[in-house]
Amino acid sequence: MALSLDIAKLHLESRGFLDTFIEPTLDLFEEIEKLKKEKNAVILAHYYQDPDIQDIADYIGDSLGLSQEAAKTDADIIVFAGVHFMAETAKILSPNKKVLLPDLKAGCSLADSCPPDEFAAFKKLHPGHVVVTYVNCTAEIKALSDIVCTSTNAVQIIESIPKETPIIFAPDKNLGAYLIKKTGRDMVLWDGACQVHEIFSLEKITRLQERHPKAVLIAHPECEAPLLDKAAYIGSTAGLLKYVQQNEAQEFIVATEAGIIHQMRKKAPGKTFIPAPPNNSCACNDCPHMKRNTLEKIYLCMKYEMPEVKLDAELIERSKKSIERMLEISARFGL
Ligand code: 13P
Ligand code: SF4
Repeated sequence: MALSLDIAKLHLESRGFLDTFIEPTLDLFEEIEKLKKEKNAVILAHYYQDPDIQDIADYIGDSLGLSQEAAKTDADIIVFAGVHFMAETAKILSPNKKVLLPDLKAGCSLADSCPPDEFAAFKKLHPGHVVVTYVNCTAEIKALSDIVCTSTNAVQIIESIPKETPIIFAPDKNLGAYLIKKTGRDMVLWDGACQVHEIFSLEKITRLQERHPKAVLIAHPECEAPLLDKAAYIGSTAGLLKYVQQNEAQEFIVATEAGIIHQMRKKAPGKTFIPAPPNNSCACNDCPHMKRNTLEKIYLCMKYEMPEVKLDAELIERSKKSIERMLEISARFGL
């Protein structure tokens, strides 16, 4: 039986999304398409989303692409199929739009590893430093930063800072260590990490390489240094996707969240993609936060226009400068 809109909303507010609201015979792909048109909504999805979500998205991308898309869309509603910090960034860049996140609990271990009060105290210990933060952080941290970066533009952002200026890099120590190596800049690092990219087992990867001697190991820079040292290519999700299309190898071991493999199979059909094995008994390396989003939750959030990501105007004002600087520098480099 269909519930009235108000009763359904009340349920959603008090208990979260319940799949029981959805008729099992409903074609969710069709319904979502209808809602997109009816509400002038756009779905932006990160590469780590489930294949079905990637397939109904209007735009699929890495963190930089998603920010650029959020800044320029003329939709009234942005449905963010990603995690909380990504939806926050979209809200900061498009404050007059309604930004929906299908599950408000879709967080990020890396963003959580950097609490604003502790980071403010850390900043005070290093006066005169330019603060560069990876986009995987809260709006409060962005407000404490000079420039935001993503894994696609981090090298260019660091290199745009005068050589004599000291830099704090937060929150990802693995990306930070990679950038120190790549740019030769000596940065002060915050001690944060991503739970997904630190879980890979070097031992299992080595065994896998023995069984697949032609497979090329590619990795995201959020991985730890010993793994990155073995990788033939290191890059953002968009970078990894481009690499597998352009490289002539037929087999790849992919050290990042396995959601990206859906696009790799679509863009490089016929090639083989093996997810790098994690250091646990489960064979998957899914991000539990990214994977909180489901097609059902996307449908419900579009139908009821909730949960919405809201930020106060003052925080938007304080946090947007560092993101806008990132977008300006990226545009300068044609990224
Ligand atoms: P990119 O898609 O920007 O490489 O980021 C990866 C990631 O971990 C997002 O949470
Ligand atoms: Fe955060 Fe890691 Fe998940 Fe990306 S993959 S959202 S960095 S926990």
